[in-house]
Amino acid sequence: MSEQRGNFSRVGFILAAAGSAVGLGNLWRFPYTVGNNGGGLFVLIYLLSVIIIAVPVLLAEITLGRHTGKNPVGAFNYIKPGSQWKLVGYMGVISGFMILSYYSVIAGWTVGYFVKAITGGFNGITSAGATASFTAFTSNWWLMIGLLAVFIFLTVYVISRGVSGGIEKYSRILMPVLLGILFLLLIRSLTLKGASKGVVFYLKPDIKALSPSLVIQAMGQAFFSLSLGMGTMITYGSYVSKKENLPSSAAWIAFFDTFIAIMAGFIIFPAIFSQGMSPDQGSGVMFNTLPVLFAKMPAGAIFGPLFFLLLAIAALTSTISILEVPVAYFIDEKKTHRKKTAIFVGLIAFLIGIPSALSQGAVGFLTDLPLFHIGFLDLMNHIWGNLSLSLGAFFIAIFVGHIWKSSNALNEIKSGCEKFTVYGVWSFAIKYIAPVLILLILFGIVL
Ligand code: PHE
Repeated sequence: MSEQRGNFSRVGFILAAAGSAVGLGNLWRFPYTVGNNGGGLFVLIYLLSVIIIAVPVLLAEITLGRHTGKNPVGAFNYIKPGSQWKLVGYMGVISGFMILSYYSVIAGWTVGYFVKAITGGFNGITSAGATASFTAFTSNWWLMIGLLAVFIFLTVYVISRGVSGGIEKYSRILMPVLLGILFLLLIRSLTLKGASKGVVFYLKPDIKALSPSLVIQAMGQAFFSLSLGMGTMITYGSYVSKKENLPSSAAWIAFFDTFIAIMAGFIIFPAIFSQGMSPDQGSGVMFNTLPVLFAKMPAGAIFGPLFFLLLAIAALTSTISILEVPVAYFIDEKKTHRKKTAIFVGLIAFLIGIPSALSQGAVGFLTDLPLFHIGFLDLMNHIWGNLSLSLGAFFIAIFVGHIWKSSNALNEIKSGCEKFTVYGVWSFAIKYIAPVLILLILFGIVL
């Protein structure tokens, strides 16, 4: 492995991978998608997707990455030189640009909300006030573009410093603090008047809500939240030492990520229902509800800013993992310089991100796209965050299960993990269950 690529330390990998997985996907995207899809049933199908489809794919990505020591394009090419499989890698690189572009918009909001919170903007705020303030915020076009620029700049800065100096250092410290503050929020939310209605909405599956689109979104959420389907985990796997126990790392990452998402729901829904708000408000749901929660809790003026700061950092450990995919590709395959590449990729993602930044009220046409009747950001989120990742995961499963072959993957897994007791189950899942289910779900045949 060349100097330019670098390596994770042992503990650094789990932290960095968990840092990639935990982010806006858990705290922003998950509650808003649950809310749009009628609650409990979505949660159930999401959990099934994580266990049955996503976890096997997670192990497949990390293993492929460590074996090849390469970015996604290079990894496919290494195992099947000269074949079309590298197109799957290219698709991952493109998804990286696209997801980074709109993810950074929301990440920019968390920075904006940190500033609002620390300057006392939420003191005594009501739910009507919070909604009005959010609308004014997202309608301010120069602020939206400015915050997007700030976030992309931060991401580029960290990435340009390389894996161990940059990524690892930032992933290591703040997770426990974030968990602690989430626990406090959880207690506050669950003890609000009328909280139980939110819990019921969140946990009680309503079979009438079942639709092909719900299942696609639930599966897409599982991939998105675990950073799968575009080669992030292949890329991170390429920095992992041969001593690392991959199955146990994968299990920990999945557990931790899912735990935080589920917890986020227990915070957001009781708060929504106790404020008499509706759960299907779309992408603003977290930003509309949490300020009211902070206004109602002791020392909320301290916890509010702290929460948004930590969320911004959690988002940063995710954006750097997204940016690292195209950057690793250019460094490995085109022999470019890390810093220049990071700036170049960041600049393009910024430009692609502008329409998303302006699609939450700032520009009418982008906020309600003709034909689709959703905002540009929501459309990007569906195409790249659900469809493209699911398709990517499908091809990765087929590649690892049938082209590279799970028995060869097993040899790689064995390094650092003497006894992989559930090999048979994993192999069956990656060869058959995951690809078949993904296809059926994508084509809406599963119902
Ligand atoms: N998993 C990250 C989150 O939940 C987002 C992400 C998606 C990161 C795809 C990398 C790749 O916030």
